Amino acid sequence: MLRIGVIGTGGISRCHGKGYNALGDRVKIVACCDLDINKAKEFAEEFDVENYYDNCYDMLKSNELDCVSVCTWNSAHAECTIAALNAGCNVICEKPMAMNAAEAVKMKEAAEKNGKLLMVGFVRRQGNDAAAAKDLIAKDYLGELYYAKASYLRRCGFPGGWFGDKSRSGGGPLIDLGVHIIDLTRYIIGNPKPVTVFGATFDKIGARDNIKTEDWQSQTVVDKPIFTVEDLATAMIRFDNGVVLQVEASFNLNIKKPTTTIEFFGNKAGLSLDPFELHTELNDNLADITIHGKNNFDFSRDFEREIKNFVDSVEGKSECMATADDGVELMRILDAIYESSETGKSVDIVR
Ligand SMILES: NC(=O)c1ccc[n+]([C@@H]2O[C@H](COP(=O)([O-])OP(=O)(O)OC[C@H]3O[C@@H](n4cnc5c(N)ncnc54)[C@H](O)[C@@H]3O)[C@@H](O)[C@H]2O)c1
Repeated sequence: MLRIGVIGTGGISRCHGKGYNALGDRVKIVACCDLDINKAKEFAEEFDVENYYDNCYDMLKSNELDCVSVCTWNSAHAECTIAALNAGCNVICEKPMAMNAAEAVKMKEAAEKNGKLLMVGFVRRQGNDAAAAKDLIAKDYLGELYYAKASYLRRCGFPGGWFGDKSRSGGGPLIDLGVHIIDLTRYIIGNPKPVTVFGATFDKIGARDNIKTEDWQSQTVVDKPIFTVEDLATAMIRFDNGVVLQVEASFNLNIKKPTTTIEFFGNKAGLSLDPFELHTELNDNLADITIHGKNNFDFSRDFEREIKNFVDSVEGKSECMATADDGVELMRILDAIYESSETGKSVDIVR
């Protein structure tokens, strides 16, 4: 039985907890911690965890752990992940891997030095849509792929709390939402490396905390929202396989309908993920093909898959689906988008 620890016991830690519980007696969460000891205690009660702490160092010193989930806000990912790896644990760290590529590289090096697995919580890789899209591309239904478009746009969707505080989040919708769709695009088209990036970010609308809505409430409650991040980011990314991705992500934007979608364009067909559809030609007509089945992303099912893939990989039963290398490449892209936005020039990613 693998002994599990959880660092950061807010919202997303519950998805990790349920994922471990779904594995029955293969694993047991034996310790957890949070800077807020009351949150650690609550998690301990909810998931029947014996030991809880107000910092990860005491947790790691007092327990022999095999695996750790890092579910803190972004600015603590590197510190907590490196501490857990140095304590001999395998780690799954939530997305984004870190605040920037330099931190991500240090995390990857710590995993290599300690001979432990470091997985990144790119949960969207676990979706049926990802698997079905990869399958269609592998069987050449799209032909030569050359362009992709990814949008994760909220009209009024600032999550509140630390998500607007750049010192803890590292950025706004780009690092929080864009990370999912950029990674998913990369995964589906075979993890190409980014070569050149042009990006722009804006802060024109801000927290939009005047709007009456109960959506997207953060669990980290503050009286007056901190908003030191962008509210919209857009970029073009050229990959080393020739594919160009146009991506956009917003917390707040004056659009009618929020959207989360990715489209892939090849010379034989285009593919959109939501709805899951091929756009092609049939007998000299334009034709749209809707593929039946559960070609979707399902939050709770796919978190269970993610935790299972982590545990299976630690036990050598399967390949890790989201490696530290993937996390580092993603952080290189995000760094380049923020840099390009500041300079107004495109950025070549040099390794
Ligand atoms: N994969 C997904 O779809 C998904 C969805 C939501 C959030 N996330 C990610 O999960 C992480 C947490 O987000 P959340 O929504 O759960 O936030 P949250 O605010 O609900 O929880 C974060 C917790 O981390 C604790 N914390 C911060 N620094 C710590 C440290 N050094 N040691 C111990 N505890 C610490 C905070 O006190 C807080 O309780 C973020 O990185 C976020 O991007 C991923």
